[in-house]
Amino acid sequence: MRALRELLITGGDVIDERGTRRADVRVRDGNVVEVGPDLARDADEQSLDAAGCVVSPGLVDLHVHLREPGDEEAETIETGTRAAARGGFTAVVAMPNTRPALDDAAVVSSVLATGAAAGLCEVVSSGCITVGRAGEQLAPMGELYALGVRIFTDDGSCVASAGVMRRALEYAASLPGAVVAQHAEDETLAHGGHMHEGAWSSRLGIPGRPAVAETVIVARDIELCAVTGTPVHFLHCSAAGTVALVRAAKARGLPVTAEVAPHHFALTDACCEGFDPMFKVHPPLRTRTDVEAIREGLADGTIDAIATDHAPHTPEAKERPFEEAPPGMLGLETALAVTITELVDPGILALEDALALLSWRPAAIAGLAGQGRPVEPGNPANLVVFDPAHEWEVRADRLASRARNTPFDGRTLRGRVKHTLLGGAPVVIDGEATR
Ligand code: DOR
Repeated sequence: MRALRELLITGGDVIDERGTRRADVRVRDGNVVEVGPDLARDADEQSLDAAGCVVSPGLVDLHVHLREPGDEEAETIETGTRAAARGGFTAVVAMPNTRPALDDAAVVSSVLATGAAAGLCEVVSSGCITVGRAGEQLAPMGELYALGVRIFTDDGSCVASAGVMRRALEYAASLPGAVVAQHAEDETLAHGGHMHEGAWSSRLGIPGRPAVAETVIVARDIELCAVTGTPVHFLHCSAAGTVALVRAAKARGLPVTAEVAPHHFALTDACCEGFDPMFKVHPPLRTRTDVEAIREGLADGTIDAIATDHAPHTPEAKERPFEEAPPGMLGLETALAVTITELVDPGILALEDALALLSWRPAAIAGLAGQGRPVEPGNPANLVVFDPAHEWEVRADRLASRARNTPFDGRTLRGRVKHTLLGGAPVVIDGEATR
């Protein structure tokens, strides 16, 4: 695709952390250069129609499994970032449970290089907390930090040992901007379980993963945060008790942040009724009470970010019986629409607050200077244009992801990405990727 040096986004409502205003946006050489009503179009300038749409900083996903290296039959960095761009994301944090894991400089460098070459979305690499995500010996965090890694996590696995977690936090304290992100599930409580432990698991006869498996780790790590002072981020929070713990930790002034995934505020464990492995995920879908608590936590600022936990699996893997299928669901191409449909339309969140959770607050957690910035002259043109009222039916077979495991297949949602700009270049136009 020819690099377009200048383009004009016309007729949209700009929403960013400064507020909402009707304005055209002119982009040149990768940056926003002018914002205002009824800007005159230069003769050779391309224009993108944003009538009836919102123009906002591009979305930032703190939690994406891109599967490369090692599981490219489920997703590659290219297909995953194309899905991200179509979902309105201009930056994603790649999770470390690849094969090999992202625990050394060579693997992290190759993920960064492949992401940059695909050019669909900024790819940020997480780095492991421990070698091989095995929970024992600390990974070379300083070396990974030197490559730009700011989010350290063993995601996919919990750092089970309090002693190892404390050492990681103490080490990260010397790395400005570093965040230690925990997959909070105590395996001694969750092991062998395939869905939330409760009334539905009893009725279906499926062994459960109790909410306390999450809260016991969250409570512990909040105390480790208090003694070390290092920022701790809780990944994919699913339980009401976690929201209460994070709220109390914030009231103590601790540097604790938390994210939730769309499936955890949109779906419950009742979805597992038909034994469909599409609804199997770790941590599991929980009860209506948990969903309500998460929604409250989103509304009152306790939760800092909506992150997808996009977890592609091949059809062969997912089409196994519930107890044998791997956990995980796609999220990148549905996150914005699920957020609008489940939270904005019912009046739980203002659209501006939803965008804060999807863009500028996660950008701040990941320390991404060029993402989530106000739509103002001088800032990088990482932008999304979406129609918040557009209704569409999710069709798994039409996703850009290589995988098909969306739990929202067949659902009608509101809110559709029209255009996505990465560094001033349109990577999605009228809903279709340009590269
Ligand atoms: O459901 C999940 N799937 N949870 C995780 O933490 C890992 C993920 C995966 O990698 O498939």
